[in-house]
Amino acid sequence: KIKDLIDKLYQEHDLRDEDLLYILDNIDEESIDYLFYMAAKTRDRHHGRKVYLRGLIEFTNYCKRECSYCGINAYNTKAKRYRLTKEEILATCLHGKELGFNTFVLQGGEDMYYDDEKMADIIRSIKDLAPDSAITISIGERSKDSYRLLREAGADRYLLRHETANEETYKKLHSKSYFKDRHQCLKDLKDLGFQVGSGFMVGLPDYTNSDYVKDLRFLKELEPAMVGMGPFIAHEDTPMRGNSSGTIEKTTTLLAIIRLLMPRVLLPATTALASIGESGRKRGLDAGANVIMPNLTPMVHRGDYSLYKNKKSTGSESAEALNLIKEELESYGYECDMARGDSKVIYR
Ligand code: 5AD
Repeated sequence: KIKDLIDKLYQEHDLRDEDLLYILDNIDEESIDYLFYMAAKTRDRHHGRKVYLRGLIEFTNYCKRECSYCGINAYNTKAKRYRLTKEEILATCLHGKELGFNTFVLQGGEDMYYDDEKMADIIRSIKDLAPDSAITISIGERSKDSYRLLREAGADRYLLRHETANEETYKKLHSKSYFKDRHQCLKDLKDLGFQVGSGFMVGLPDYTNSDYVKDLRFLKELEPAMVGMGPFIAHEDTPMRGNSSGTIEKTTTLLAIIRLLMPRVLLPATTALASIGESGRKRGLDAGANVIMPNLTPMVHRGDYSLYKNKKSTGSESAEALNLIKEELESYGYECDMARGDSKVIYR
């Protein structure tokens, strides 16, 4: 039965919720190989064996939010805070451009020091420096007017994970916030013409397969251009310390299902996945991922953007180590692609 359901998912890019749940509940060693095989085949058909590289710049770890899983939440007094100046951000982009990157992902906490004017100025300046590059912004929830200014300044893409589509769980993790506000942000971003990325964490405490089905359904209905999904990893200076991490197995199973649900979506093998095990990145790619996001953040600050324990930011996660990354991808049978790699998702 599971094989039939995977075939149906492969052909129709959708399944009933109860069938998705059946797959998650009953997947075994044999059917998981088949799931990965079909997901990789789907990825190969739509994207080939090319893996897009995005240069990640973590430009501030100040944050006003209360997210109980995250190491840079506002209440973690142990976090060593930093901000990059506009000049530092531009120098980082220039360095990335020289390395061959054509997408810059500006990620940060929700730091109101970077008001609309400052962000728009930074975005315009990056576009002057690298007119053909894509700019992805990932700075959390803002008003639609604010998003509009970023878009008008030249931002192409926006990453805002929904984190969990279970509203109760969302409330437990974010005591001051509401899922519906986050959902509204995602609608606003789409409406403004951003290529939008959303996604969730795998292995949150007490999470069930029905919760994952909710996340999958949420994403299928949102139709994002990108899906960022990685294991939850506890951070010792947060209220969630001591909880066990999401596993490579669960994360890759969900990556494969997402690839089959959304064949064209841009799907990173995330840093969190690479951080929980040696083979994390390879197994993410083998499950249908087609993006990686090497870290371009200036070395002095890399250790401080600590969202979770033992986050990888050096070696093959480091943009400086491009040769290493290329070799690694080639050894798995993939090819590095440094082009902009815009979304092929067709919006209705
Ligand atoms: N473990 C895994 N992922 C995390 N993130 C934040 N904290 C953690 C953690 N402890 C993820 C969130 C956020 C993204 C930038 O990092 O999903 O959206």
